[in-house]
Amino acid sequence: MTPSIQIIFASMSGRNRALAGHLQAQLASRAQTVITEISQADAFELPKADAVIVISYTYHDGELPDEAQDFFEDLKEVDLNRTKFAVLGSSSKKHLHFGRAVDYLTIQLNSSNGEQVADSVKIDQDPDADDLARVDQLAQRVLKSFED
Ligand SMILES: Cc1cc2nc3c(=O)[nH]c(=O)nc-3n(C[C@H](O)[C@H](O)[C@H](O)COP(=O)(O)O)c2cc1C
Repeated sequence: MTPSIQIIFASMSGRNRALAGHLQAQLASRAQTVITEISQADAFELPKADAVIVISYTYHDGELPDEAQDFFEDLKEVDLNRTKFAVLGSSSKKHLHFGRAVDYLTIQLNSSNGEQVADSVKIDQDPDADDLARVDQLAQRVLKSFED
């Protein structure tokens, strides 16, 4: 059966939105994908998906974006029941707490009983070819996890 993958992103200036589109293109031939902006995403619906990929920038001093806070708080109440997940995000090494939102989301999705199927990927601002290769590898790991 074709797996369903929820792609949830937070993006202010467009990099993480573009990453969501890139991932969807990578996954499209082998999965049903839905992209949702994080303020519109319902954390309680996540266990219905076969996999969830969360993509976020980091804001303030190493914090989640404001529009991701509700989703993150709700996630604390959710039992993901081993739903597969992966996390990635473009943020910036110019900031002290590089990509901390990726860390917070990874920790919380694990705490909520998700099954992490790929190492989290942090990207410094615009992705270069190596970064996109890491994103593609993450996509492949998610797809491969359905075969195991
Ligand atoms: C006010 C402000 C604060 C930021 N704080 C952080 C931070 O603490 N850590 C970090 O890694 N990046 C930080 N960033 C960088 C963004 O996460 C980065 O530009 C990211 O690529 C934006 O993604 P987007 O294009 O999807 O909005 C900050 C950016 C701004 C404008």
